[in-house]
Amino acid sequence: MADLSNKIAVVTGGARGIGRAIVETLAQRGADVLAGDLNEDQVKATAAEIAAATGRRVVGCRVNVADSTSAKEFIERAFAEFGRVDILVNNAGITRDNLIVRLNDEDWDLVLDVNLKGAFNCCRAVARAMMKQRYGRIVNISSVAGIAGNAGQTNYASSKAGLIGFTKSLAKELGSRNITVNAVAPGFVTTVLTDVLPQELKEMALKMTPLGRFGKPEDIARAVAFLVSDDAEFITGQILSVDGGMVMQ
Ligand code: NAI
Repeated sequence: MADLSNKIAVVTGGARGIGRAIVETLAQRGADVLAGDLNEDQVKATAAEIAAATGRRVVGCRVNVADSTSAKEFIERAFAEFGRVDILVNNAGITRDNLIVRLNDEDWDLVLDVNLKGAFNCCRAVARAMMKQRYGRIVNISSVAGIAGNAGQTNYASSKAGLIGFTKSLAKELGSRNITVNAVAPGFVTTVLTDVLPQELKEMALKMTPLGRFGKPEDIARAVAFLVSDDAEFITGQILSVDGGMVMQ
């Protein structure tokens, strides 16, 4: 099991779902964590529960990753609280699904702003400090939709495909400073985000998954924990699908 003792991690969208599992898994493996989320009450409660269960310092605070000032303040909070940031996981993400003829400007912009610009905002805010300390581990949460596309999700798939180009470019930019940048592309994971989808769509997703089950948030969290650990120190610019075999590249 990857050991993350003495590491400081920052995770966005940490209040629930996959983000919560990432915070929990990193803390279980020894990291102290700042979890940010738009939902301040929920992320504070989540952080307190995980701190109590793991004995690590886990702090929750509000962040709107789509807002560059808020993202900057969030990263500053991590430095104020822990003095350093070793790991950044850009997990915050939303969907506003619609067929293109019905997709309005607001829903296009919002999804791109949160999912893609949000990762940019947080990476930019932390990059200088990681470069200076000559150590950093960044993981962006993409999606199978960003690799294979999905009808009704042109905005979401574009944001997640954008994250793949972003990940590869940043990996090239920061590699010489011992900073790795990778992405995890989850398949269908059972969370609030997917609970709302129609039953037929869920059945179709299950049929397309060779391992024959939906993902659990912990499946994604364990892959993230690997990528930010020393076991993965020679891996950068990669997109790791964690999807039960749904999309094989
Ligand atoms: P979720 O909806 O359960 O959790 C997302 C969290 O992000 C929420 O706590 C929400 O408050 C927070 N958030 C939303 N906008 C934010 C903002 N502007 N700033 C800060 N926090 C914000 O979603 P889930 O399923 O846990 O997804 C997590 C990530 O995994 C997302 O990026 C999603 O696109 C990705 N993903 C999820 C899949 C799934 O099947 N659930 C599949 C592929 C990717």
